[in-house]
Amino acid sequence: MASIEWSSGRLRSVQDLTADIRLFEIERDGPFMPAAPGAHINVGVEIAGRPDTRSYSVVGADDDGLYRIAVKRVPQSRGGSAYMWSLAPGARMRVSAPRNHFPLSLGKGDYFLVAGGIGITPLYGMALALAETGARFRLAYAARTRADLAFADVLAARLGDRLSLHIAAEGERIDLAAEIDALPADAELYICGPLPMFEAARRHWQTRGRAPARFRFETFGSSGRYASEPFRVKIPRLGKDIVVPQNQSLLEALEDAGVEMISDCRRGECGLCTLPILETDGIVDHRDVFFSDRQKAAGGKICTCVSRVSGGEIVLDTPDRAG
Ligand code: FES
Repeated sequence: MASIEWSSGRLRSVQDLTADIRLFEIERDGPFMPAAPGAHINVGVEIAGRPDTRSYSVVGADDDGLYRIAVKRVPQSRGGSAYMWSLAPGARMRVSAPRNHFPLSLGKGDYFLVAGGIGITPLYGMALALAETGARFRLAYAARTRADLAFADVLAARLGDRLSLHIAAEGERIDLAAEIDALPADAELYICGPLPMFEAARRHWQTRGRAPARFRFETFGSSGRYASEPFRVKIPRLGKDIVVPQNQSLLEALEDAGVEMISDCRRGECGLCTLPILETDGIVDHRDVFFSDRQKAAGGKICTCVSRVSGGEIVLDTPDRAG
């Protein structure tokens, strides 16, 4: 995989889209590289005094020399959103060139876009691009309350009845099974939303025997079933006994403790960071989309970049890692 191209940059402006979603306009030094729909940029952040990186979807596909990202402030997060929200216009930043692991392939028959919460960020640009090309598509956008909707006005104006809003507080949920069943056989689905939404859609997609390649997704990599809490991890092979703090991932804690880890996406998608579980007396909160439901239930491995343990400790093995 190509290495990340970093450059310095400057935060040009911020704008609150909702009470907890803020839009950041970032100017990257050097030549501007346009971001295609679905692309993201990496941003240098500081978590508990140490440098780290976070990746955020680029909102829209503007070519005015600015990258726009929307960051949701998450109290339970590992600290990336708190850092971003602490920045004022004019702040210097480290910014990567755009990369795209969630590309939109134009020229297909029908598209169904599904966004949950802040998952609207990559799908916003996709919906506008599809509208521009006259493609057949629909966007279903779910949020907790109306006040939590971002970009809804622009989307409503540009998409008309191709947009449906689903407000959980008003008892409206996306009927993923019915929506998927109603799609033509060659339709493509693009989804970005919380893990339960993703899993429900993927399960139904698979059950109906639809082509896996037409199910495109991006995840937040951090939404679990249990609140994040500190937990202990032991690695007998390396003689390690480590406490993973609430605001740090298991992968980061292992790296800090000198365990030689392999990783790439750090969002629970590629599977490179997984380790075998020897035993646990807690509940493994699988937050990845790499393992199947069956693999998660079997509990043989954990995706260390996103998954955590709740209510106990875990013993891992590192058959092919040094430390
Ligand atoms: S680094 Fe990709 S799943 Fe963890």
